[in-house]
Amino acid sequence: MPASTIQKSTEFTNTNLEVLLSEADIKRRVAELGKQIAADYADKDLVVVGVLKGSCVFLADLIRAVDLPLTIDFMAVSSYKDATKSSGDVEILKDVSQPLRGKDVIVVEDIVDTGLTLFRLLEILGSRGATSIKIASLLDKPEPRIKKELKIDYCGFQIPNKFVVGYGLDVAGRYRNLPFIGVVKNPELA
Ligand code: IMP
Ligand code: MG
Repeated sequence: MPASTIQKSTEFTNTNLEVLLSEADIKRRVAELGKQIAADYADKDLVVVGVLKGSCVFLADLIRAVDLPLTIDFMAVSSYKDATKSSGDVEILKDVSQPLRGKDVIVVEDIVDTGLTLFRLLEILGSRGATSIKIASLLDKPEPRIKKELKIDYCGFQIPNKFVVGYGLDVAGRYRNLPFIGVVKNPELA
């Protein structure tokens, strides 16, 4: 093959990634969620709270699909993970910058796995006097769920128990910029 026709793989065409949800799949679903939220929150005082860093891409697209007045805010938490599981201890690294009293809050997550992080976060936010608190998560990995009582009000996709990256989700900080959700085929090559 002549050298000029050899396609070098890039971050987005990395052959070690298997596409689970394409950019088009995500776009379609985010538009649906946005419409649903807009219908549910008309005449409410909506604050969309993103959990950094993973939710940033989803939040940016989701709010542009919600045709309502709203404000955004962010929290950052560390969930003291060991290599494979979440301990449920949540430390707030960055808190929201506005009072939530009387507001209708939607907490936006990238993925709910064991549910421990979000469960604890909701306990913390639950003491702030918000009128309502709901959850929007792009992905729901129900299989390893420990907090089975956790209800995801706006869920993008249920996925199998695989480690996924892209569209905000990372492994060691990498792949958040992928426009799709992928599975890393061989983690040793990543
Ligand atoms: P949980 O407390 O186990 O529900 O942890 C949720 C957090 O773990 C998410 O916000 C992600 O940051 C991270 N996480 C869980 N599963 C994955 C995955 O498949 N890919 C990337 N991050 C993940
Ligand atoms: Mg996260």
